[in-house]
Amino acid sequence: MSILESLFESPLGRQVAARAGLAEPPVLRRGRVIPSGPVLLAELPGGGIGRAVLAALGVPASEPLLDLPENRTPDERGRPQPPRYDVRPGALVIDATGVREIVQLELLRQVLRPVMKRLEGSGRVIILGTHADDVEGLEARAVAQALDGIMRTVGKELRGGATANLVWLSDGADAADLASTLAFLLEGRSAFVSGQAWRVRPRKDGDRSGEGMLGERSRPFEGRIVVVTGAARGIGAAIAHTFHRDGAQLVVIDMPAAGESLAAVANELRGSALQLDITTPQAGARIAAQVTRVHGPQAKIWAIVHNAGITRDTMLANLDEKRWASVLDVNLAAEMRINELLLDPALPGGLGENARIVGIASTSGWAGNKGQANYAASKAGVMGLVRAEAEELVGRPVTANAVAPGFIETDMTAAIPFVQREVFRRTNSLSQGGQPVDVAESLAYLCDPASGGVDGQVIRVCGQNIIGA
Ligand code: NAI
Repeated sequence: MSILESLFESPLGRQVAARAGLAEPPVLRRGRVIPSGPVLLAELPGGGIGRAVLAALGVPASEPLLDLPENRTPDERGRPQPPRYDVRPGALVIDATGVREIVQLELLRQVLRPVMKRLEGSGRVIILGTHADDVEGLEARAVAQALDGIMRTVGKELRGGATANLVWLSDGADAADLASTLAFLLEGRSAFVSGQAWRVRPRKDGDRSGEGMLGERSRPFEGRIVVVTGAARGIGAAIAHTFHRDGAQLVVIDMPAAGESLAAVANELRGSALQLDITTPQAGARIAAQVTRVHGPQAKIWAIVHNAGITRDTMLANLDEKRWASVLDVNLAAEMRINELLLDPALPGGLGENARIVGIASTSGWAGNKGQANYAASKAGVMGLVRAEAEELVGRPVTANAVAPGFIETDMTAAIPFVQREVFRRTNSLSQGGQPVDVAESLAYLCDPASGGVDGQVIRVCGQNIIGA
């Protein structure tokens, strides 16, 4: 710990920080823990799916208070006050899927206002909308987008670790398509996901399972093989642990130089370890061979998590060809080559019929970052890759998605100089860095067998970082 860090961590330092407006960051609710207060459902005109999905998840929903003049009790000076809840709500789900007119947006204000200061710590605001591509007419399309601006502002105004997100429903998507997403958002698994909007479509695989999956339904990957690259430490090791908790049989991969820690991860999780540099041309074939060797000739991969990544930061003015090539190859090209090979349906040990592909992008790829032209190119490339793969795989129920982490507390970010690190850590709506498990939980949600309607999406796990917000 540097002198500056010790000072910052001392009682005096904390006092100074508090005076400077740097409040102690809230402790976030994590894991498969649901809100403790009631879940309020605001069903706006034309909605219905919100009620259906909460019922499917077994969540009793209460009606929210409305910010109507008749609901306002006057204060001691006779001035009307907005309605207030006696019990702090745990979540507010706004079903705005039928909202098409600008005047109807007023209803969002009415149901949000009483909740903004009353939501419990790590509470949730979840807005359900219909995507602009799925509605007709200028006003309806403008209104669809307006929901995004409301949601992002709510995320920035909420306190105490509460989050706001928006789910776009596509034509034909129903409660079974939405269930895994709503479960993820309500639970602590989405602790560091805020200010995000993503799309849920009808599930490509036609699978309708997923009812009653909230909270304790905890082993969606039972009997399924999940491959994680770069799993010897950091986020990769957290990913392996999270999938293991949820029942997966793991194949963990890392560089031969990290062999010892890789073996430790594999042993602890009763998985198999493969020492492999993912940039070698035979990488895909080696992965498939490992799967059949350990799990038998008929075995197929349920999910591959492309986590391995490197940085070789320097300003463009100093950036040489080697630093450029190595980052692009590890972070992007290797992932593309491996997927291409493993997607061959005839390959023993390749990706199964309904497999899940997930990549790890970065907020640097979203917004750009000084000194990271190579890294930002590779991570923006990962976003482009999963979107393109999702489109190409249209006739096959494989999904491809990515998460884009912001500041996550790992060895990589511990190396950033203290002041800069504290700034990165604090400049998001949750005033703290994320944990590796936050990235892992988001990836596990995308790989859930019930998440087949989430395809070609990129979800930021950044606590609504102001970078690129
Ligand atoms: P890390 O450096 O702690 O771990 C990366 C792992 O990948 C290491 O074990 C390394 O040996 C392995 N690896 C590197 N090149 C490899 C190769 N050619 N073949 C096989 N394995 C290889 O990194 P961290 O922080 O855990 O990051 C994991 C992923 O998350 C990376 O893709 C990173 O770019 C991404 N990320 C991390 C963020 C953070 O704040 N830590 C933010 C945004 C993205």
